[in-house]
Amino acid sequence: MSLQATVTDKQLKMTKWTGAAAIAGCCLALRLGSAAAHEGHEQDAPAFEMHMLQQPTPAPDRVVLTWSGDPATSIDVTWRTDDTVEKSTVEFVPAADIVGNLEHGNVPICCTVEGTSADFASDRGPSRMHTAHLEGLRPDTMYAYRVGNGQFWSEWLQFRTAAAEAKPFTFIYFGDAQNAIRSLWSRVIREANLRAPRAAFMLHAGDLINSRNSDAEWGEWFGAGGWINGTIPSVATPGNHEYGGGAHVDDHWRPQFAFPLNGPPGLEETAYWFDYQGTRIISLNSNERLQQQRHWLKSLLDDPERPKWTIVTFHHPIYSAAKERDNAELREQWQAVLEEGGVDLVLQGHDHAYARSALGGPKNVAEGVRRQESNTVYVVSVSGPKQYPLAEAWDVSRNASGVQLFQIIHVSSERISYEARLATGELYDGFTLLKSADGQSELIEQIPPTPEIREQP
Ligand SMILES: [Fe+2]
Repeated sequence: MSLQATVTDKQLKMTKWTGAAAIAGCCLALRLGSAAAHEGHEQDAPAFEMHMLQQPTPAPDRVVLTWSGDPATSIDVTWRTDDTVEKSTVEFVPAADIVGNLEHGNVPICCTVEGTSADFASDRGPSRMHTAHLEGLRPDTMYAYRVGNGQFWSEWLQFRTAAAEAKPFTFIYFGDAQNAIRSLWSRVIREANLRAPRAAFMLHAGDLINSRNSDAEWGEWFGAGGWINGTIPSVATPGNHEYGGGAHVDDHWRPQFAFPLNGPPGLEETAYWFDYQGTRIISLNSNERLQQQRHWLKSLLDDPERPKWTIVTFHHPIYSAAKERDNAELREQWQAVLEEGGVDLVLQGHDHAYARSALGGPKNVAEGVRRQESNTVYVVSVSGPKQYPLAEAWDVSRNASGVQLFQIIHVSSERISYEARLATGELYDGFTLLKSADGQSELIEQIPPTPEIREQP
């Protein structure tokens, strides 16, 4: 069948609301352009650009799971459509209940939730963002769900709720994606998914994109993750590129993610926390109001209900991995609280290089920098292709520059097992963290024989 024959009348009508290229790419756009010319409408076909593939349509896209509440009993799903879509419906059902002859796609749903939506004007034009909060879910249970408006639906996607108690789990941690997201970051998130297909969540330590408010870059980010984002919840903290010199986080951030609102006033969905199967996860916003967050962080660490492990993420590192970068004020505001509060792991980005410390940070510190013995391990990592030269000053356990990495972190009541892997999946760094009942930690180095990579940019 020729390409021309595949273009139906219905598709031609659809082009009224999408723009030709959004439906079938450049070939359809060019064909429609020539059709218009035949009808006497003298106009050139729009030149094809990649971002045209990201135009919103009535069908849901950019589907992403997050948590704003308890991961054992709730989940949030966010998606995008064009601004013609009025309804924000989620249908869901325990996945095991989808049985029988379903050849017509009629799934026996148990539950429907109506979410909310809001018009969203990006630099590429209008769209609508939809969010729904599902609650009352059974812990440790796989659910299937789809989002849509009753006419246009996503595919059925699946996720698993957290167990209500401490239980081993695995999560993935990414440093900055930021640049060439479609062409080069996509292989990292996909390899990570293949290596940890049942990860509980994916943690992004800021600078997910490069240009604040760039809808095309967010389109690349969602395209790279694809259906993984609708299956494994995301946890993200904003970097300086989500601020881009502005006073507020990227306009996409809060409409397109549904993170907890339990942070300090004014920092909702950028500073937040939740407990997952025996571990407290805290996102701090290292872009603003550091002092305000210091007090909030201390209250979270003083909580007598705090589980055994605490993992904190923020963007700008306490100890910078890259040359000629330093965040002295951040260290001044947060380091003592993190370490005296017994935070186990600090997961950071920003420096476009890799540096992982032993307990208590680098073994040496620059003049004027205070180092204290502690149980805290600091990591700076980068998942995207932009790379900076390493700082030479810090004596850390493992360094890298010039390579994209991702981290797979296994957590159980006995230990945290950490793996940093190259984009190929090859193991690059590893350690195990143990903690006794009285809070004393022991770090067992498990660095593989892979030679240190220093492809200095
Ligand atoms: Fe950054």
